[in-house]
Amino acid sequence: MSIIVTPEQVAQATAVVRARTEHQPTIGLVLGSGLSSLGDGLGNPDVIHSHEIPYWPASTVSGHKGVLLIGELHGKHILILQGRSHYYEGLSMSQITLPVRVMVRLGVRTLIVTNAAGGINPSFSPGDLMLIKDHLNMPGMAGNNPLRGANDDAVGPRFPDMTEPYSARLRRLAHDVAAELGFGLQEGVYAFVAGPSYETPAELRFLRLIGGDAVGMSTVPEVVVARHAGLEVLGISTITNMAVPDPAPGTVLTHAEVLETGARVIPRLTGLIHGIMQQLLA
Ligand code: HPA
Repeated sequence: MSIIVTPEQVAQATAVVRARTEHQPTIGLVLGSGLSSLGDGLGNPDVIHSHEIPYWPASTVSGHKGVLLIGELHGKHILILQGRSHYYEGLSMSQITLPVRVMVRLGVRTLIVTNAAGGINPSFSPGDLMLIKDHLNMPGMAGNNPLRGANDDAVGPRFPDMTEPYSARLRRLAHDVAAELGFGLQEGVYAFVAGPSYETPAELRFLRLIGGDAVGMSTVPEVVVARHAGLEVLGISTITNMAVPDPAPGTVLTHAEVLETGARVIPRLTGLIHGIMQQLLA
């Protein structure tokens, strides 16, 4: 799929969102599978359904709501995406990253992305939270990068630097907040695969060999687009299942299991994000 969203289309989508809110969000938060309840508790929220915004990709997966919330949290204006679109739904990388392009135009400077992921690192356990310190963009390396196509020089450079895709400063902050709340965070490399089929044992061996600690089907296209525009990014994976090449006999992985474990960690993830929001300047 190579449908490329144009700057004019991004501008049109942005205009519709702007017309619906007085808030001027500087922080964006993307909530992954089963994590929508993190949007509760937002002050003075404006609620926009994704189908009301032109060119906005529809969310078709259970556990993903397709709602955009803009409101206040700990004195900051924040835009929350409850549910995202994925490449495997049949859209292009450019289409699934339109929400981040809109956030950039609205003035968002910090992006917090969450997701559900399989743990490849054998020292991880389901229910762990992992800060993403780097990623492997498997589809991107194979030619399907969300920045493919004409570059919008007004947003960022043709060849954006990716030396520190996930802010070391925000990771330190997240570790401090978690420690204060009484739990630890894993840190590792997120391997982005297109899905929707889960990985075979051979694919998991390969991803481990090349340095992956967790595997999932989202986040990286959004982060590439955000970094292109110079946003500071924090990525948090919920390890919902182990993705190891030699699972116990009879083990099968289902989306239901992913959602169940995701629900179990919501209290910790909510505490973490609220703590981070309190500390952020913006
Ligand atoms: N693989 C890919 N994506 C995922 C997984 C997994 O094991 N768990 C949650 N999202």
